[in-house]
Amino acid sequence: MFDLLIKNAVTADGEPVDIACTGGKIIDISPTIDGPAKDEIDAGGNLITPPFVDSHFHMDATLSFGQPRINESGTLLEGIQIWGELKPALTVEAIKSRALEICTWAIARGTLMIRSHVDICDPRLLAVDALLEVKKEIAPYIDLQLVAFPQDGYLRDPNAAALLTQALDKGVDVVGGIPHFERTMDQGTDSVKALMKIAAERGLMVDMHCDETDDPLSRHVETLASECQRLGLHGRIAGSHLTSMHSMDNYYVSKLLPLMRDSGIAAIANPLINITIQGRHDTYPKRRGLTRIKELIEHNVPLALGHDCVMDPWYAMGSHDMLDVAHMAVHTAPMTSMKQIRRMFDAVTTDAAKILNLDNYGLHVGANADLVILQAATPFDAIRLRPARLYVVRHGKIISRTAPVVAEVDLDGMCHDVDFELKI
Ligand code: FE2
Repeated sequence: MFDLLIKNAVTADGEPVDIACTGGKIIDISPTIDGPAKDEIDAGGNLITPPFVDSHFHMDATLSFGQPRINESGTLLEGIQIWGELKPALTVEAIKSRALEICTWAIARGTLMIRSHVDICDPRLLAVDALLEVKKEIAPYIDLQLVAFPQDGYLRDPNAAALLTQALDKGVDVVGGIPHFERTMDQGTDSVKALMKIAAERGLMVDMHCDETDDPLSRHVETLASECQRLGLHGRIAGSHLTSMHSMDNYYVSKLLPLMRDSGIAAIANPLINITIQGRHDTYPKRRGLTRIKELIEHNVPLALGHDCVMDPWYAMGSHDMLDVAHMAVHTAPMTSMKQIRRMFDAVTTDAAKILNLDNYGLHVGANADLVILQAATPFDAIRLRPARLYVVRHGKIISRTAPVVAEVDLDGMCHDVDFELKI
C-alpha cells in the first residue's frame, strides 16, 4: 500500500503522470499507477513540481516592517540604518516568532527550501541562536540553510571576524560577505579573499552579497570568481545581487562573464528588491539595477532567484511567493520568450536546488516526496497567474491545502465561472 498516490498530474515538461510515494520518498512515476493508498490526490490535470526554492532571504529581519520606523528614502543604506536601530531591541523570542510565521507563509506558497542570511554583527549573536532553533524546529517541513552574514562589513565592523567564526562554530552552514559595504575597494577585495579562505579551510559553501550597488566600478564579483577558481571551490560559491553588473561597461562584462562561467560560481538575483532599491540616486532615465540575467544564462552561469525580503526595513511588500519573484524577473530582466519564462520557473525550482546543493530534490524515483500541485497546467501559467497551491506535500504527507480560486461573473443573468486559464 502506498502512503500517497497522486493521480492525473502534469509535469513542467508537459508529461501526464501519476506519482506514488512511500516512506517519504517518490517510489514510482508513471503515466498510470493503480493500487491501494492511504491517501490519494486527484491533481485534475494540473501542474506538479518539486517545491519552490528561495535561494536568498533574510529571516531575521522579516515581518519587522515599521520597527522602529519606515524606510522613507527606499535605499539600501537607510534600510541598513533602520535594521541597526532595531537590533538592540531584538529578542530571541521575537525573531523566532516572526521567522516561524514567515515559514507558514512560505509553506502555503509551496516553498520548502530556503537559504537565509543571518546577521552576525551583534555581540549577542541573538539572531544566530534564534534561527538555529528555527532551523531545527522547522526541519520536518522546510530545509533551511543559514548564511553567516556580516551586515556591517566583515572588515568595517571590528568585531565581525570573531563573530563570524563564532557563528560558524555554532553551526551556521554557509559563509557570507558584503564587500561593497566595506570602506574602500581594497578592503572589499581583502574581505572577499579572507572569507573565501575561511570557506576553503572549513569546507563550506559561500554566498556573498556582492556588488549590490549601481556603481559600475564595483567589481568584487571578479575577485569572488577568481578566488573560486584559484581555490578550486567551483559549485560551492554564489554571488548574490550583482546589481552593479547592470551598470558596468560592456567591454568589461564581455571579459567578466567567461571568467564567471569558467570559475563555476553561481549568480543569485533578487528582482523584487533590486528593482525597488537600485537606481535611487538616478533622476531620469532610471536604471533598473538588476543583474544581467539573460547574459548570465547565455554564458551558462548557474542562476537562481531569491525573495530577499518580506515586510522588513528594505521592502514593505510581499507574501513570500517565489512566483511573484519569477514574475518580476520576467518583466524587469526582461525574459519574455516562452523559453526564457521557463528558465525563470527553473530559477525558483530545479536550478536553485542545484546551486544550494540540495540532496534528494526533484521529480524522480528516490527523491524526497516533496511536491506542489498548482491551479495551473504549465510553468508559463504558474508565473502568469501565480495561482493557488492546491496541495503542498512534504515527505509524502499533505501539509497545506488551498481551495481553487474561481470567480463567478454575473453579467445580467449570463453567469460565467472565470479561472483566468486560456489553453495556448
Ligand atoms: Fe540580501
